[in-house]
Amino acid sequence: MTKSFAGVRALRGVDLDVRPAEVHCILGQNGAGKSTLIKTLAGVHRPDAGEIRWDGAIVDIPDPDAGLALGIATMYQELDVVDGLTVAENIFLGHELSRGGFTRRGEAARRTRELLRRLGHGSLSPHAEVGQLSAANKQIVAMARALSHEVKLIIMDEPSAVLDSHEVQNLFGVVRELTAAGIAVVYITHRLEEIRQIGDRITVLKDGRTTATGLPVADTPTPDLIRLMTGRDVANVFPPSSPPAADAPVVLDVRDLSLRDVFEDVSFQVRAGEVVGLAGLVGSGRSEILETVYGARRATSGTVTVADRPLRRGSVVDAVAAGVGLSPEERKSQGLVLDEPIAMNVTLPSMSRFSRGGFLDFRGERAAAREQIEALELRPADPDRPARTLSGGNQQKILLARWLVHGTRVLLLDEPTRGVDVGARAEIYALIRRLAAEGNAVVVVSSEIEEVIGLADTVLVVAEGRILSTLPSSEIDEHGVLDLVMKGTAA
Ligand SMILES: Nc1ncnc2c1ncn2[C@@H]1O[C@H](COP(=O)(O)OP(=O)(O)O)[C@@H](O)[C@H]1O
Ligand SMILES: [Mg+2]
Repeated sequence: MTKSFAGVRALRGVDLDVRPAEVHCILGQNGAGKSTLIKTLAGVHRPDAGEIRWDGAIVDIPDPDAGLALGIATMYQELDVVDGLTVAENIFLGHELSRGGFTRRGEAARRTRELLRRLGHGSLSPHAEVGQLSAANKQIVAMARALSHEVKLIIMDEPSAVLDSHEVQNLFGVVRELTAAGIAVVYITHRLEEIRQIGDRITVLKDGRTTATGLPVADTPTPDLIRLMTGRDVANVFPPSSPPAADAPVVLDVRDLSLRDVFEDVSFQVRAGEVVGLAGLVGSGRSEILETVYGARRATSGTVTVADRPLRRGSVVDAVAAGVGLSPEERKSQGLVLDEPIAMNVTLPSMSRFSRGGFLDFRGERAAAREQIEALELRPADPDRPARTLSGGNQQKILLARWLVHGTRVLLLDEPTRGVDVGARAEIYALIRRLAAEGNAVVVVSSEIEEVIGLADTVLVVAEGRILSTLPSSEIDEHGVLDLVMKGTAA
């Protein structure tokens, strides 16, 4: 498939084959050509060259109706549901159920309920106005609409971009049911961890070319995927680590910290300029350790000391006053106020600094936000844009900018690159390193062991709520960590 737009060569000879009942993931950085590829399959764009075979025969797909008639339904990245219409009206838009010239609303509502139930969302009303629904529910409507046709292939363009991790798991449940019914799914994403969970085979696009097509997920290691996506080796993605000087002061001192039934006797120190990484499986207690240090959970015993100041247990206010900042795992539900502008999100913890006698100093707030937007190269560089409209990488930058404005000594980062494009990850890594170089004590939790090792000076291996070992990152690799985790989990 080849397709250019006025000078932009979006697709330069892309190959893709999809089998019945498989989840075929298309992976690629922003601008790689993923959306353009699927729009040529759906009949939205006409390719300049190339052919499409459907069940073995060459077909022409001049418009979306032709795609649907073949059995290809698409959920676009820019969800194309109509806000002013109800759920049922959206689902049957363009193929209204009618008899003798009358639209059959009752029948549409009944069929809608059936489809929603099939998608595990039977509680959604067919009569609800779509404009009032969450992004996740709008997506369900788009999927129900796709299923209201006889489809053999459903294409989903970055459906997880607007979802939190719980909603992503729901979506995966739906995808599994579709494939169990023999329907093929093309799933577009730039998140490697999702591919591991849901994908059967992968096609990778880079700059409008296929760098690999039809790779079985199980046989393809992550570093290979990163290389195919970015053209770079993983090693070059991480900035060189610069361990703190031997006499750098201990900024964060955690002693015998316990949270009943979650973790026990956790002790570690982080010096100014040091990045400590917590490696372990999901559910090992890593996030809870960060949240307890931050005071969002009340420790059952133990102490947290920041620059010689003991923190009050279970007090976020005290932790923040002592210079502790947390960037939570679920940016979308815990960290950002999505509908508010970038500026407000950046200055949120510093509001007291920008209020005078009960009035907000908008100009001061804005100037501080603008300074960070420039320093961190946030895109788009517009303080008035709602946080929701930014990419994962840029949302993460907002959370880091927030603590830069506020001034921190300890930064706790939970999954800082979840949902961040591999290319943008390098920028986040560089930023985290810079924060450390400026004297912060940084603690990073990540499910990607490679990331922990690549980023941290010191690695703490956590399993079942205990720290199993503390090692310089130069002395351990992914296998070593996994071995320790497995031993710790079996014990
Ligand atoms: N309608 C269009 N007009 C002009 N350029 C476009 C259009 N759609 C996509 N492009 C360009 O084509 C390239 C691939 O875009 P896209 O397919 O959206 O990538 P992806 O979905 O992988 O992020 C980009 O350079 C993009 O700017
Ligand atoms: Mg796209």
